[in-house]
Amino acid sequence: MKEYNDYFAANKDLWNQRTMVHKDSSFYNLEGFKKGDTVLTPIELNELGDVNGKTMLHLQCHFGMDSLDWARRGAAVTGVDLSDEAIKEASQLNDELGLKATFICCNVYDTSAHVTELFDIVFTSYGTIGWLPDLQPWATMIVERLKPGGTFYLAEFHPVVWMFDDDFTHIKYAYENREVIVTENQGTYTDRTAAITGKEYSWNHSISEVLNALIGAGLQLRLFNEHMYSPYSCFRNMVETEKGQWHIKGMEGKLPMVYSLKAIKAE
Ligand SMILES: C[S@@+](CC[C@H](N)C(=O)[O-])C[C@H]1O[C@@H](n2cnc3c(N)ncnc32)[C@H](O)[C@@H]1O
Repeated sequence: MKEYNDYFAANKDLWNQRTMVHKDSSFYNLEGFKKGDTVLTPIELNELGDVNGKTMLHLQCHFGMDSLDWARRGAAVTGVDLSDEAIKEASQLNDELGLKATFICCNVYDTSAHVTELFDIVFTSYGTIGWLPDLQPWATMIVERLKPGGTFYLAEFHPVVWMFDDDFTHIKYAYENREVIVTENQGTYTDRTAAITGKEYSWNHSISEVLNALIGAGLQLRLFNEHMYSPYSCFRNMVETEKGQWHIKGMEGKLPMVYSLKAIKAE
C-alpha cells in the first residue's frame, strides 16, 4: 500500500484535527455517554445482538466511543485507528470510565502487524471504508483476525449517498471505485465552520466491490440490509422523519442511506 502513503498521511492529519473538534461536539454527546447514554444505533444493536463475553476488534474506532459502548455491554474490545490523537482520547476515556478496552494506533491495513489475537467479532461502522483505496487487503486482514466461526459486521453509508455533491443538488461522483476523490476541507460534519484545513483523500466503493472483497477473502455472507434512513444527521440538508431517522431533504424515503452486513468465517 506504499503508493498511498501520502494520502494516508494527509488523512491522518485531518482526523487528528477533527478529533479535537469532535470530542467536544454535541454530535458525539461525550458528556451524555460518560453518564451512561448509548451511542450505538438500533441498526447494529439489533443486527449484531448480544456481545457479552465476546472478544471484539473494532476497526477505525475514532476516539473510542462505540468501542467503549460495546465494552460496557460486556465485550473485550480492541480498537485500532490511524489517528494518534483519537487513540490518545480513546485511551483516556477508557481509563476515566474504568473500562478494559485496548487501543492501538495503526493503519487498518497494518492491523495484523500490531494485533495477533483472534476475535469472535470484527466490527466497523459509519464512515470507515471510504478512507481505504483497496478493499481486498482489508478483507484479507479481517479474515486473518477472526476466529473460525467468528463474525464480521459492517454498517456503512450507502455508496449512492457518496455520488452526490455536498449539498445533494446533483450527482458529482461515479458509483464505482474509479479514482481517488480529492476534497478541500471546510469544517467537519459536527461543525461546518470549524477551523480544519487540508485536503482529504477518499474512495467510493460499490456494493458489489464490498461483497466481492469479503466473499473473495473467504467470508460467508449471512445478512445484508439496506436502510432508507441514516441514524446520524451528518450530511447537509437533512430532516428527521422519526426519532433517529435522518433523510436528505426532498428525497425522504427515496434514497438508501445506509447498508449493513454480517459475514462468517467458516469453522
Ligand atoms: C468517521 S470515523 C469512524 C467511525 C465512527 N463511526 C465514529 O464516528 O466514531 C473514521 C475513522 O477512520 C480513521 N481512519 C481513516 N483512515 C484510516 C486508515 N487508513 N487506517 C485506520 N484508520 C483510519 C480515522 O482516523 C477516523 O477515526
